[in-house]
Amino acid sequence: MRYAVTLIEGDGIGPEVTGATCRILDAAGAPIDWEKVPAGARAYEEVGHPLPDAVVASIKKNRVGLKGPLSTPKGKGYRSANVMLRQRLQLFTGWRPVVSLPAVRSRYEDVDLVVLRENTQGLYAGIEHEVQPGTIVSLKVSSRAAGERIARWAFDHAMQNGRRKITVCHKKAVLPLADGAFVDAFHQVGKEYPFIQQEELALDDVCMGLAADPSQFDVLLLQNLYGDIVSDICAGLVGGLGVVPGANVGHRVAVFEAVHGTAPDIAGQGIANPLAVLLSGLLMLEYMGEIKVRDRIRQAVYEVLEEGRYLTGDLGGSANTATFTDAIIDKL
Ligand code: NAI
Repeated sequence: MRYAVTLIEGDGIGPEVTGATCRILDAAGAPIDWEKVPAGARAYEEVGHPLPDAVVASIKKNRVGLKGPLSTPKGKGYRSANVMLRQRLQLFTGWRPVVSLPAVRSRYEDVDLVVLRENTQGLYAGIEHEVQPGTIVSLKVSSRAAGERIARWAFDHAMQNGRRKITVCHKKAVLPLADGAFVDAFHQVGKEYPFIQQEELALDDVCMGLAADPSQFDVLLLQNLYGDIVSDICAGLVGGLGVVPGANVGHRVAVFEAVHGTAPDIAGQGIANPLAVLLSGLLMLEYMGEIKVRDRIRQAVYEVLEEGRYLTGDLGGSANTATFTDAIIDKL
């Protein structure tokens, strides 16, 4: 059985890091036929829209996609194609496992966390207007239904993956209605999952706790903006944005992507680290139930990291994208 998977190469270093990932998955015999579609700046130049309908249609058909980073122009231009994609496919869960990797230097060893972010609402609903010259209002949207939807995903995920505790993070003291609704939905859904420990904690305490002792957390559940920021703090705990995978998941549809951006400063030089997109590809294989091939590639990656001879510049080595990729393929 083979699967069609939508491939968005992305902008900047996107084609370099997704290209490396496809080479490794293909070399390992992953049963995937890539269906390439353009999005982001390239699509905007070619067809006048950063997220052409064909992209959404392809993912809806295949139910799974692998995506490189897409650039969003600052200020004027077009809205983030990433945000649009999440909204159009209702990819309501941002799923980011944060795990320490061999030979990647970081402050803590043995970090093993999952950050889950509500992707469709909060301050990223994109509802902004200038009420009078110089005064902007941005609306934070928080519906009970969206809170329950992601809480249920979080509890199911915890049950299926042997996770013991979920911490819902909030700023209820200043946003009692919006954040209160999110926390209430969590507790309501949580009644159906008595085997999972449930905790609510102010965002401030979560941030301080992560810096002091990340092992006290297991699964973190956050609204959109908080999740965006905290997931990067968590990435920092294990070596940075270049080494953490991510996925955006909806009802039986998922798009897998690294959390870093297009890295315009190093694009086209062949030196980008493909590890984060590769690990996102492994998460995708796990989602598709292709565990054997996932494990084979993961072992090859870990061996290359442990040996330390072929690390890219961001990890303190002198390898480039191609030599790192070749080293993994050699191990396979
Ligand atoms: P960035 O993540 O692209 O770059 C930050 C720093 O990390 C740069 O020094 C870059 O060289 C380095 N870096 C990032 N990925 C790397 C990799 N794989 N290997 C080695 N070094 C790496 O963040 P920045 O500069 O804020 O954003 C650039 C563009 O990317 C913007 O247009 C932004 O909108 C977009 N972006 C897209 C995302 C997505 O598609 N999910 C996520 C974040 C940003």
